[in-house]
Amino acid sequence: MSITILGIESSCDDTSAAVIRDGLLLSNVIASQNVHEEYGGVVPELASRAHQQNIVPVVDTALKRAGIKASDLDAIAFTRGPGLLGSLLVGTSFAKGMSLGLRIPIVDVNHLHGHVLSHFIRREPTDIVPEYPFLCLLISGGNSQIVLVRNYNDMEILGRTIDDAAGEAFDKCAKVMGLPYPGGPHIDRHASQGDPKRFKFAKPHIPGLDYSFSGLKTSFMYTIRDNVKFDPDFVEKNIDDLAASLQATIIDILIDKLDKAVKQTGVKIIAIGGGVSANSGVRNAVAEYCKRHNLQAFIPERVFTTDNAAMVAIAGYYKFLDKKFCAYDAAPFARVEV
Ligand code: KG4
Repeated sequence: MSITILGIESSCDDTSAAVIRDGLLLSNVIASQNVHEEYGGVVPELASRAHQQNIVPVVDTALKRAGIKASDLDAIAFTRGPGLLGSLLVGTSFAKGMSLGLRIPIVDVNHLHGHVLSHFIRREPTDIVPEYPFLCLLISGGNSQIVLVRNYNDMEILGRTIDDAAGEAFDKCAKVMGLPYPGGPHIDRHASQGDPKRFKFAKPHIPGLDYSFSGLKTSFMYTIRDNVKFDPDFVEKNIDDLAASLQATIIDILIDKLDKAVKQTGVKIIAIGGGVSANSGVRNAVAEYCKRHNLQAFIPERVFTTDNAAMVAIAGYYKFLDKKFCAYDAAPFARVEV
């Protein structure tokens, strides 16, 4: 008997719905919100209102693209957290209402598990997925973690950021350079044309496998402040080199700890996930690192790096197999770890 899961993601500023049947992706619809652009960051109240407007057409489109009817669904998986509470509430309430109407169970998904398990989304039955155990470098706007994944329901965080996330470092430094929010993709674009060795920024010395990015951010800001004093057009003239040097430093920090984790655990399979894993430099660096050390690398399709419901549906699919259903009084949560 085949199992068909609808996934719903509404944790931040993307409303997304996806359908997965027996692990195979049938549809993945994402409505991004651009109401936040002029504020330089996500405005929670505007995000939840936009989710309310988007959720019905997004779910409807996901079902149509999958070529199924709502009555073909076996369960609805939704992101319960972490994320913005108002935004999560829209997806959570919608999932509950729809499941009551269809008399099918709901499955709550930890957004971070979704990022890790995004590597198990298959478009074709022959697509290769990681074997357990593997290490996942989970790098997004809110998290930077190295996760040891022993199984889909057995994950351990080996290291995490003690301050800013990697995505925050991208976004905050981009803001200082006057780039629009979110700045990560803009830095990526500028970096591809710049000299990564032109500027030197501070690198942290944190013991163990934990990350830190706030010192780098401060050092980047000081470089700009000190130079703008003498040349008001400093950023404009050097934007490609600034972006390339910043990106290279972030990558160095990420790979250093990944290398430590590989040596510490002896795990031979490496995956990356989360919005920052869309970064071209990060993708190349991880692929090269794995090639050099004879490790197997899993670099996700870009559409599965940022927030998407396909990863929620696949995580929900595994929980469904374990019969881990969710109660109707389950409330969303803003913060949680893997
Ligand atoms: O996973 P995600 O969509 O949202 C959560 O934080 O959960 O990640 C968003 C983060 C933002 O900080 C954004 O700037 C970053 O991912 N990002 C990138 C790129 N694309 C997205 N950072 C660097 N290079 C990119 N190409």
